[in-house]
Amino acid sequence: MNKVEQNRKAWNLLSKDHYEYFRNKFKEDSYKLNPIVSKELGEISGKKILHLQCNTGADTIMLAKMGADVTGVDFAPDNIHYAKKLAEELNVNNIDFIESDIMKLMEKHEGKYDIVLTSDGAIGWLPDLDKWGNTISYFLKDNGFFYMHDLHPFFLSFDEDLIDDGVLEAKYPYFGKEPDEADEIGGYASDSKEAKNYFWMYTIGSIINSLSRAGLFIEYLNEYDRCDSGMGGIEIDEEGLSYYPALENKLPIVFSLKAVLR
Ligand SMILES: C[S@@+](CC[C@H](N)C(=O)[O-])C[C@H]1O[C@@H](n2cnc3c(N)ncnc32)[C@H](O)[C@@H]1O
Repeated sequence: MNKVEQNRKAWNLLSKDHYEYFRNKFKEDSYKLNPIVSKELGEISGKKILHLQCNTGADTIMLAKMGADVTGVDFAPDNIHYAKKLAEELNVNNIDFIESDIMKLMEKHEGKYDIVLTSDGAIGWLPDLDKWGNTISYFLKDNGFFYMHDLHPFFLSFDEDLIDDGVLEAKYPYFGKEPDEADEIGGYASDSKEAKNYFWMYTIGSIINSLSRAGLFIEYLNEYDRCDSGMGGIEIDEEGLSYYPALENKLPIVFSLKAVLR
């Protein structure tokens, strides 16, 4: 089985637990779009959005609740099944979901979007960043924009077991060419499950260069020392974002980026 297939199988194991986790959050009215993403996206009401790697659709649903017409894409069939179920249960209708590998989306889907968006733990699962960049360009309207918010690769290079104590020890090569192979997946919205999976490390430079090669102009790249809880951090700030007190202002944990067609 190739690496993408292995990843699909691994993510599919988490779908039901993720659906239950996010359904409970929606029921308690405690699910929120990351405040940084919300602020940087600006007014999205009436916009057509393509949400890449949407998982079981929690953020896709939030974007639709904010008035956008949203299409979520994910390659795990059970993610799509549960994303549709969750949207139906929450009576969100301005939403659609497509089961597809992002690497094959151009062959499967037609359409142009005001915003193409990806967030939080997404691109490291993709084996080909140039194809990713071309896919984004392909689906953007001429006056549309691409927005991403994801874990900072510099943060990802440190040992995750030591960082909670404020200790930074390089573990994963920032310039690594081969994907990291792991035996467990998940843990942020469910218990982790045993399944082989592969995660590629992409440097900030490689991300920007892929987008640039695909004909995109970077409007901004912002870096932050805090993220959504579950992605890192041990304390929560007044906005609900998670951070490491010992590393506050010292280490970028996430970055966001906006790009337009040149
Ligand atoms: C950490 S989750 C991203 C969650 C996202 N932040 C959200 O909005 O809920 C990563 C997602 O990428 C999906 N994924 C991984 N590789 C993919 C691929 N090649 N094509 C499409 N989806 C993929 C997984 O199924 C998983 O749902």
